[in-house]
Amino acid sequence: MASEMSNGIPRHVGIIMDGNGRWAKRRGKPRLHGHRNGVINVRRVLEEAKVLGVPYITLFAFSVENWNRPPLEVRGLMALLREFLRRETKNMVKDGIRLRVIGDFEGLPVNVQSMLSQSIEATKHNDDRHLTLALNYGSRAETIEAVKRYAKLAQSGEADPDELNWQQFSNFLYTADLPDPD
Ligand code: FPP
Repeated sequence: MASEMSNGIPRHVGIIMDGNGRWAKRRGKPRLHGHRNGVINVRRVLEEAKVLGVPYITLFAFSVENWNRPPLEVRGLMALLREFLRRETKNMVKDGIRLRVIGDFEGLPVNVQSMLSQSIEATKHNDDRHLTLALNYGSRAETIEAVKRYAKLAQSGEADPDELNWQQFSNFLYTADLPDPD
């Protein structure tokens, strides 16, 4: 369900970070040049969200399929992510932004996990605005994970499958704490 606010400003904007490669290719540059500029735009998006008063931004940054890209590109993307966290965590703390990650966290490189954990921890009391990064994200994996967690409750008698509806099920998704994107 969309959750646009009464002033017409969306509550939750989801952005698929797509087209970086094509953007760079058109300029005769390597794909990583496009990704680097994509990351620069994240700061602009956060600034604009602050001006407009959009409380939730979700960036679909890295899908489970993206591991199939050339190893050099994957390494470059992970380095850009670390660079982003190094640079932006203090701004997020200052700006009241809470960082979350959705996706298979444990499947990310250990050095990325630890930087993410630090940023998540440093911003966990913020509540003005929310930045969610979808990393190692896949809707199939999300569904299976949710079904497994629900099935465990059903098995122990804490949930009744006959009573299951979407609202309840959505509590088991990665996005349980977030309003639906507009
Ligand atoms: C798609 O562009 C973009 C990606 C697969 C990666 C985006 C992720 C980052 C830049 C990592 C850092 C993330 C954050 C949030 C700081 P594409 O190469 O598929 O473009 P194309 O469709 O033009 O080929």
